Amino acid sequence: MAALKYAGLEDTDSEEELPPGWEERTTKDGWVYYANHLEEKTQWEHPKSGRRKRVAGDLPYGWEQETDESGQVYFVDHINKRTTYLDPRLAFTVEDNPVKPTTRQKYDGNSTAMEILQGRDLSGKVVIITGANSGIGFETAKSFALHGAYVILACRNMSRGNDAVQRILMEWHKAKVEAMTLDLASLHSVQHFAEAFKSKNVPLHILICNAAIFGAPWCLTEDDLESTFQVNHLGHFYLVQLLEDVLRHSSPARVVVVSSESHRFTEIKDSSGKLDFSLLSPPKKEYWAMLAYNRSKLCNILFSNELNRRLSPHGVTSNAVHPGNMMYSSIHRNWWVYTLLFTLARPFTKSMQQGAATTVYCATAPELEGLGGMYFNNCCRCPPSREAQSAVAAAALWELSEGLLRRRAGRRGP
Ligand SMILES: NC(=O)c1ccc[n+]([C@@H]2O[C@H](COP(=O)([O-])OP(=O)(O)OC[C@H]3O[C@@H](n4cnc5c(N)ncnc54)[C@H](OP(=O)(O)O)[C@@H]3O)[C@@H](O)[C@H]2O)c1
Repeated sequence: MAALKYAGLEDTDSEEELPPGWEERTTKDGWVYYANHLEEKTQWEHPKSGRRKRVAGDLPYGWEQETDESGQVYFVDHINKRTTYLDPRLAFTVEDNPVKPTTRQKYDGNSTAMEILQGRDLSGKVVIITGANSGIGFETAKSFALHGAYVILACRNMSRGNDAVQRILMEWHKAKVEAMTLDLASLHSVQHFAEAFKSKNVPLHILICNAAIFGAPWCLTEDDLESTFQVNHLGHFYLVQLLEDVLRHSSPARVVVVSSESHRFTEIKDSSGKLDFSLLSPPKKEYWAMLAYNRSKLCNILFSNELNRRLSPHGVTSNAVHPGNMMYSSIHRNWWVYTLLFTLARPFTKSMQQGAATTVYCATAPELEGLGGMYFNNCCRCPPSREAQSAVAAAALWELSEGLLRRRAGRRGP
């Protein structure tokens, strides 16, 4: 009891009664979240019962939903001429409770992707992996292909992509692998890739958002966005939007977003607590490559959480992963200092096969079927940073990303 009291969770009559400092709110699309005013954090689970809920049904007659300038939803009662932040439907909520994994942890930081898939037959499964021509993405692709899946390597450079396909075929000539062009720094290319994939008329069971750039010098993409933000986050966001219908039709389907522990060393809100676009896609004079990468990796987790919230009712789940620290892939290539640091760390870091393990685990583990909105490291669920857990930040990032896509569509005209 003392521990409960210390945590601000004193015993009250009802399990549903909120502890002091907590407030129940809803998002635009009716999901309930909980705001802790003392710690300034939000979460999906009820602080006492751990349950997730969403409101059922429409607003009562005469009520309307609006959004204030900080993105918070409020409600207008036109009949009684009053406004409130309290959703009148909160009295009629339904539970949305994915069962948490209960099995003992089978794998750890030493496990490899091939070990995780040992004995599995993935024939019939279709997998897309972005940035699969090198590093962790390549090992992920190879592991799936050697277990029978049809794997599409989505690569920006076709000659590197085809070379990766050949390397897999050399290991097993019957592997079903193919490279397709996808440049995440170009929304046009993402659209083109999605159209080309859809024209194949195949399902999509696993989508791995793996590609990233790190330590890149400042540069704007053809869509006028800072390249780290676009490649690591927005390009993947757009890809998932375009493939959402295929994922839904292929359910149960899983998305895995490859993030990093470096998401912990940053935030993406300004001093007033609002999501700040200029932090995400900064001008040249405010750009620091490392910070841009960390922010994009925070976006990866927020995106995965929000995606899971939106699509899990339709059989598509999403989890984010940290593959490992300072693994010697090609990620360090942008500056010789990074190359030196990664070389020095190399004897102590994971192999690429070990780096691919957590991604493969999240994409295939039977005990994770239907479960998402989590963050994994070393094949084990772990809490991401407080900022990465924020339901409000996740919803705001989603809206901002949608806005950027709309802006681009508007520029291109009908
Ligand atoms: N290595 C680590 O220590 C580490 C640690 C934490 C997290 N991670 C994460 O792990 C993931 C994989 O990284 P990695 O270490 O395997 O690095 P990597 O070997 O550099 O792989 C990155 C891949 O992304 C591709 N890519 C880059 N820009 C692209 C674009 N515009 N469009 C499409 N693809 C693009 C690269 O293609 P090209 O070959 O054509 O450039 C490459 O295939 C990344 O999300 C990274 O953030 C890595």
